[in-house]
Amino acid sequence: MSLINRRVQTLDEFTIQQMRNFPNATGELSGLLRDMGLAAKRVNVEVNKAGLVDILGDYGTVNVQGEEVKKLDVYANEQFMGVLRHGISCAGIGSEELDDVVIFDDEISNNSKYVCLFDPLDGSANIDVNVSIGTIFSVYRRVSPLGSPATKEDFLQPGIKQVAAGYVIYGSSTILVYATRRGVNGFTLDPSIGEWTMSHPDIICPPTGKIFSVNHGNFFKYDEGVRRYINACQMKDKASGGPYTQRYIGSMVSDVHRNLIKGGIFMYPNTSDKPGGKLRLMYECNPFAFIVEVAGGLATDGHQRILELQPTDVHQRTPFFVGSKLMMEEMQTHYPGN
Ligand code: AHG
Ligand code: MN
Ligand code: MN
Repeated sequence: MSLINRRVQTLDEFTIQQMRNFPNATGELSGLLRDMGLAAKRVNVEVNKAGLVDILGDYGTVNVQGEEVKKLDVYANEQFMGVLRHGISCAGIGSEELDDVVIFDDEISNNSKYVCLFDPLDGSANIDVNVSIGTIFSVYRRVSPLGSPATKEDFLQPGIKQVAAGYVIYGSSTILVYATRRGVNGFTLDPSIGEWTMSHPDIICPPTGKIFSVNHGNFFKYDEGVRRYINACQMKDKASGGPYTQRYIGSMVSDVHRNLIKGGIFMYPNTSDKPGGKLRLMYECNPFAFIVEVAGGLATDGHQRILELQPTDVHQRTPFFVGSKLMMEEMQTHYPGN
């Protein structure tokens, strides 16, 4: 069969087809995913030419977390916020780059079903050196009544309540992966036609793998249980599938994506200087916990399932362990310690 005749499904076709399974669906979720896909295409164009234009370097401000903000972080934030504000599906947003949530509060948005939280550019310290970076997002159905502005409670829902979650990797190719309760699917951007094209249908996370991903430089700052597990990964003999391979890019989107496809475990534990962990619950950990769990894996903070944590702040941090089911279960036998 020639390539030209091969049936390829676009993101829009897929989301609309999925919608048909729900007789009462309004199409708003499809619309929201299309909006995210559109903003991601715009961000992709800028990421691709980051070396060509004067867009590299610090923006000269620090964000709410006290970290350096790069110009592309700001650009990406504006793109995602812009499409969601002008779309018909989203009543408000929360972002790593914004101190507080933004409630759109106009007639259309007040009647929109969803709110969205996102990390517009994850791994942005890697922009200057051509390493893959990404976007992570999380979608909740509002708990406040339609017809009124969204409220803080719409955002502060535990991850288990996510309706959808996804990520984009701006890498050797650009891919958008999203999950609903029904499954996880990946779409690669075909640059010749500018369409997201189904490339990874029904992603399943292998129950085990050979990869562990952790910042080894922090080894002596980790709790004893984590250190024991890292040692166990390195000491595995051939018979038990070892030794495991250590892979850590420093862009969580790429690290978790690789482990989701190949099998593996990703860890960002609490350290002695960051006792609450580094990664943000609402727009880094919850979306990945949802995606990986739908794909058959597990995600915890070392003690509890990530998706069951009750958030109190959109920017709160958490220790994060996520990956293949059996590897996660083995890790938990070492940590928190028993
Ligand atoms: P961000 O660029 O949005 O601040 O997030 C970067 C995150 C994550 O992608 C990555 O896994 C982690 O920070 C890397 O942190 P370390 O350099 O401390 O290992
Ligand atoms: Mn991030
Ligand atoms: Mn970021």
